[in-house]
Amino acid sequence: MGNELRFDGRVAIVTGAGQGLGRAHALLLASRGAKVVVNDLGGSATGGGKSSEAADKVVADIKAAGGEAVANYDSVEEGGKIVQAALDHFKRVDIIINNAGILRDSSFQKMTEQDWELIYRVHVLGAFRVTHAAWPHMRDAGFGRIIFTSSAAGLYGNFGQANYSTAKLGLVGLARTLAIEGAKKNVFANVIAPIAGSRLTETILPKEVTDALKPEYVSPLVAVLCHEESQENGGIFEVGGGFMSKLRWQRTEGARFKLGRNITPELVQRNWERITDFGKATFPEDITGATQPVMENLGTKSRGGNELIDVDEALGFE
Ligand code: NAI
Repeated sequence: MGNELRFDGRVAIVTGAGQGLGRAHALLLASRGAKVVVNDLGGSATGGGKSSEAADKVVADIKAAGGEAVANYDSVEEGGKIVQAALDHFKRVDIIINNAGILRDSSFQKMTEQDWELIYRVHVLGAFRVTHAAWPHMRDAGFGRIIFTSSAAGLYGNFGQANYSTAKLGLVGLARTLAIEGAKKNVFANVIAPIAGSRLTETILPKEVTDALKPEYVSPLVAVLCHEESQENGGIFEVGGGFMSKLRWQRTEGARFKLGRNITPELVQRNWERITDFGKATFPEDITGATQPVMENLGTKSRGGNELIDVDEALGFE
């Protein structure tokens, strides 16, 4: 086994760290030597109100355990102020855990503009503002580790969470682009889709399940991703209740139609099985991989991929 993973000299911002997952992340990083900005607006689970109590309590817990931390009560919508707090107190920022979140669940039929807007502002705009303010500092320092907190609701969809799932999958797109833009500067971005007992899940899951799903089961994976030894970048991880795994896109081999003649709906329909069959799936990792079959199809011959379907032949043209 290797040595203990330490974060001495590192400065971490954990948003929404007043309770739940953020609190567990903050306590773990602080216990391993990181100086932590414990950000929390201290509002309700649906985004109303504010209070300094939650963040103060976590800072007190960190200090009582011998760690170093400072509280910040700004909304992530004012991300620049949170990053400024890190710079003012600790002179740098190495790690950002975008974790702050609220819920405004409702069926799509009943969803209001306000439900939609508020979820977007906290999850997407908030993560953007915090990360964008820290980005130049991380690039200049040649080091950064950024976590975005997505959700199974975003990855798979979930009844009553159209606003939330949109925001949560939006964060995946943001993280994957930052992974590309930051790579050369050793600024890495990864995504977690956690599950844990918290005030966000206590109304949905039975009490015995939320009690068992401790936020502390999620934080160790986050710590590994935030460590300087980690080379993981652009990854998406499902984590919770002792389960940890990595997710990727899977694509069917698909159909390729010879170009130059009419590709009709009937031709598509006739080849539906080929289009949707995951039997010979591939796992494109980037835009180049994703567009490869398209580019190949523009050429005259197939390069080792699936067979080209002759449109005329398929349609029974002479
Ligand atoms: P939580 O409600 O226990 O903690 C979230 C914290 O964020 C709260 O302390 C709240 O005051 C703070 N917060 C809310 N809006 C804020 C704002 N505008 N600025 C600063 N702080 C703000 O919830 P939990 O479960 O720990 O959630 C943490 C993150 O994990 C959220 O992004 C949530 O969507 C996500 N998540 C949680 C899951 C779970 O099973 N608990 C499942 C999937 C995702």
